[in-house]
Amino acid sequence: MGVKNAHTEGDRRPLYHMFVHVPTSYDLMNRLLTLGLDERWRKKAAKICLAASPTRVMDLCTGTGDMVMHLSRLSKNGNRELHALDFSPPMLNLARKKAKKKAFTPIRFIEGDVASMPYGDGYFDAVTLGFAFRNLTFRNPRTVDYLSGILRIIREDGRLVIVETAQPGNRLLKFLFRLYMKVFVARLGGWISGHRAAYRYLAYSAIHYYTPVKIKELLLQNGFSRVEAYPLMGGIAAIYVAVK
Ligand SMILES: C[S@@+](CC[C@H](N)C(=O)[O-])C[C@H]1O[C@@H](n2cnc3c(N)ncnc32)[C@H](O)[C@@H]1O
Repeated sequence: MGVKNAHTEGDRRPLYHMFVHVPTSYDLMNRLLTLGLDERWRKKAAKICLAASPTRVMDLCTGTGDMVMHLSRLSKNGNRELHALDFSPPMLNLARKKAKKKAFTPIRFIEGDVASMPYGDGYFDAVTLGFAFRNLTFRNPRTVDYLSGILRIIREDGRLVIVETAQPGNRLLKFLFRLYMKVFVARLGGWISGHRAAYRYLAYSAIHYYTPVKIKELLLQNGFSRVEAYPLMGGIAAIYVAVK
């Protein structure tokens, strides 16, 4: 797979091939490469999502379920309905195993594609996306399908909460961020996990990903009415809250 354009023209499920081969070290690599910050940021996003007391919540592109596990642990409301969707069966298997051991609120896992989700319009009060918005939007030929699919399943005034890598504004921090991506993520991550192409794609897409201004524009152009961005660690990552 080419790194610069990991999506092949005409592919109905861009990136699918990359995510059906999951390294056994997937979660460990996330913790190592972010020094545990990824989990802290997911938890923060989950808290922001639950602050509006949603009843039905969907974690899209749930992967191994880290975000939905936070949603579950933070859900004291017994009526909350938690769903988690991903198109990769191996990712979902890992998520289900984790949930069996640690979930507080039951989670309904579903195998599916963000472009064609089997839910009625406005079914969810809130949707979360942990480190997957980049996958859905970075030079992805199906970006518009994904965004309209997400918008469709959120009710009026409901929220989409995204946590994603971003672009630091400070030049020195930007330089260090890019160096870190190239050296640690692409090379070390690829070498330890044995999944070189996947980690090269991760580093390349993070280095070239859009600024918060562009992300806001993208969400507003695709039907969201308000978008707020909250930078994390000088802009290395950000949380976005978009209202339908
Ligand atoms: C980088 S992982 C992020 C996983 C998880 N949300 C987290 O916080 O670590 C991206 C996930 O998105 C899933 N994914 C990518 N495109 C998708 C699509 N179109 N529909 C459903 N899942 C998708 C992949 O299978 C993968 O599990």
